[in-house]
Amino acid sequence: MTQSFYPPQRTLMGPGPSDVNPRVSQAMSRPTIGHLDPMFVAMMDEMKAMLQYALQTRNELTIPVSAPGSAGMETCFVNLVEPGDTVIVCQNGVFGGRMKENVERCGATAVMVMDDWGRAVDANKLEDALKAHPQAKVVAFVHAETSTGASSDVKTLVELAHRYDCLTIVDAVTSLGGTELRVDEWGVDAIYSGTQKCLSCVPGLSPVSFSEAAIAAIKGRTHPVQSWFLDLNLVMGYWGAGAKRAYHHTAPVNTLYALHESLVILEEEGLENSWARHRTHHNALKAGLEALGLAFVVPEAERLPQLNAVTIPEGVDDAAVRTALLGDYNLEIGAGLGPMAGKVWRIGLMGYAARKDNVLNCLAALDEVLGRMDAPVNHGTAVAAALAAYSD
Ligand SMILES: Cc1ncc(COP(=O)(O)O)c(C=O)c1O
Repeated sequence: MTQSFYPPQRTLMGPGPSDVNPRVSQAMSRPTIGHLDPMFVAMMDEMKAMLQYALQTRNELTIPVSAPGSAGMETCFVNLVEPGDTVIVCQNGVFGGRMKENVERCGATAVMVMDDWGRAVDANKLEDALKAHPQAKVVAFVHAETSTGASSDVKTLVELAHRYDCLTIVDAVTSLGGTELRVDEWGVDAIYSGTQKCLSCVPGLSPVSFSEAAIAAIKGRTHPVQSWFLDLNLVMGYWGAGAKRAYHHTAPVNTLYALHESLVILEEEGLENSWARHRTHHNALKAGLEALGLAFVVPEAERLPQLNAVTIPEGVDDAAVRTALLGDYNLEIGAGLGPMAGKVWRIGLMGYAARKDNVLNCLAALDEVLGRMDAPVNHGTAVAAALAAYSD
């Protein structure tokens, strides 16, 4: 007979999912109630308010889509983009490529602004594209590119897009909770995130938020949204302010308890303290990795604290190292994606995983495994360098 599944207790320091806070796992196992139960509806209202805080927005339409980050991405595109539209997509890694796919599946044209993998989106190139394509309706880009660890300047890119009368779609899957993000102050029109990164929650939900201008564009559409499930005109009836909740779909009740708890934890810590915590542990991890002799892929000024991509030393077997870390230390770090496959490791410091014990354990494990494999690194230096960074 098939047995129950008991996963091992891993430490998740890859590109996500990241470690789930035990309080979140406990919240998830609370009794399932009906999704139109008044107690559940009250919990949803609290969650909306906490998501507004996390995103620093007053946008009324701020909700978790009942599906992972990819569905949040798709929600933004299918609602804002119509057949025949032109959308400028800035690509500096894997996820800009997915945006292009979304645009084209909406029957629109994607104008691609390409940047090197490992670099931030270049505002000058975006401006050239905006000048060359005055018919463009939307500009889309990724705030925190998980495939490389590069952070782009949301404020500047949004200002530029607005100067050319474009709406903006921003991917904040890896940034929310880990890096400064201010939706209203920066004027973002549509944004989506995920629960499995810096929110320390389980995967499976995608917080999204839409400005008044974005809602006006959705209401003024001439073509119906091609996705029934993601059509915000219908979803708004379910999540709308004080709306009498009508059945749209069965909400993932227990997963929403999990997100509620992770947002309570974020409020307790304070958003800015959470950003600062990610930075502190990044600084220590960086000191340890650089002491070993591992070079960062992204220039310092454009680097995300929560996703550390470093170059694999010459002659070292990528998969063998990651397998040893997983097998001997229950530690997961990420492989490179696309053109970076086999060339980089991606070490995540996201949410509950961004802690001193994790930084020190990860460095000690990596140091030991690389030493065992006779890798050309400075053995025995990583933990001391990280401790020195903590005491600075
Ligand atoms: C930047 C970015 N965008 C979108 C996604 C897609 O999210 P999900 O895997 O939850 O569908 C991810 C997932 O890693 C991501 O890192």
